[in-house]
Amino acid sequence: MTAIALVTGASGGLGQAVARELREQGWTVALVGRDLARLRAAFGAEAACIAADVSTPDGARTAVAQCQRELGLPTALAHCAGTTLLAPLHRTAPEMYRSCLTANLDSAFFTLGAFMDALREARQPGAAVLVSSVVARIGVANHEAIAAAKAGVEGLVRSAAATYAPSRIRVNAVAPGIMDTPAVARIIGTGAARAGAAKQYPLPGIGDPADLARLMAWLLSDQAGWITGQVWALDGGFSSVRPLVK
Ligand SMILES: NC(=O)c1ccc[n+]([C@@H]2O[C@H](COP(=O)([O-])OP(=O)(O)OC[C@H]3O[C@@H](n4cnc5c(N)ncnc54)[C@H](OP(=O)(O)O)[C@@H]3O)[C@@H](O)[C@H]2O)c1
Repeated sequence: MTAIALVTGASGGLGQAVARELREQGWTVALVGRDLARLRAAFGAEAACIAADVSTPDGARTAVAQCQRELGLPTALAHCAGTTLLAPLHRTAPEMYRSCLTANLDSAFFTLGAFMDALREARQPGAAVLVSSVVARIGVANHEAIAAAKAGVEGLVRSAAATYAPSRIRVNAVAPGIMDTPAVARIIGTGAARAGAAKQYPLPGIGDPADLARLMAWLLSDQAGWITGQVWALDGGFSSVRPLVK
């Protein structure tokens, strides 16, 4: 019997890359999204797809319970559900802020909670990896709402890592810079904006979701068995290196 991983936001750019990487590494993967048709279009009719809105407590519990019923207890969680929001504070309407917090922070809180409940009831160890962003660590203009949400995700990760370490449940986060996913393609397009974004990074370019998927899969594996409470940047040096000014 193979180990089971739950991937949220599985229809998205990163979620698809993570699901594929985990499958290649031998995991049985449960794919969670709000839109079953989108999941099936990405992974085929035979894939283990679960329709649930993990930004609500009920939706998060449904995702974990359905996985348990249909495949078995998930011992790994890759929480990829989330959004991107490019807007300065003075142009962020209350509903934009709420929806950003719901998609990024509520979903992380409720999904991690449902995952912990299942593992603790079964008295099993496990590992979770959540997705933050460079904007939580370094001030980047026009990202106030998403920076606040992802800073919340990082705080959640550190506290949960402390709480559940005695139960041998590890919790880590990854913090990518801009990545080439459809969500971002909608914002930066293909021309000058994309080149401008790429130039902001000490190692120039746009991140590849496949690279982040490999890092996330490694954090979920036994090879990372003594790592918890960490935030792993994958950002071309953006959050820690001052580019050489010529
Ligand atoms: N792409 C980047 O440059 C970048 C940079 C830093 C961080 N990130 C983070 O990386 C993660 C994945 O991003 P991505 O680029 O792969 O985005 P994406 O392609 O838009 O995928 C995100 C997925 O999250 C799900 N989702 C969105 N809003 C939700 C909500 N309110 N409740 C539940 N699920 C929701 C959607 O799935 P359904 O609609 O099927 O439910 C969507 O497929 C996000 O957390 C994002 O903040 C991305």
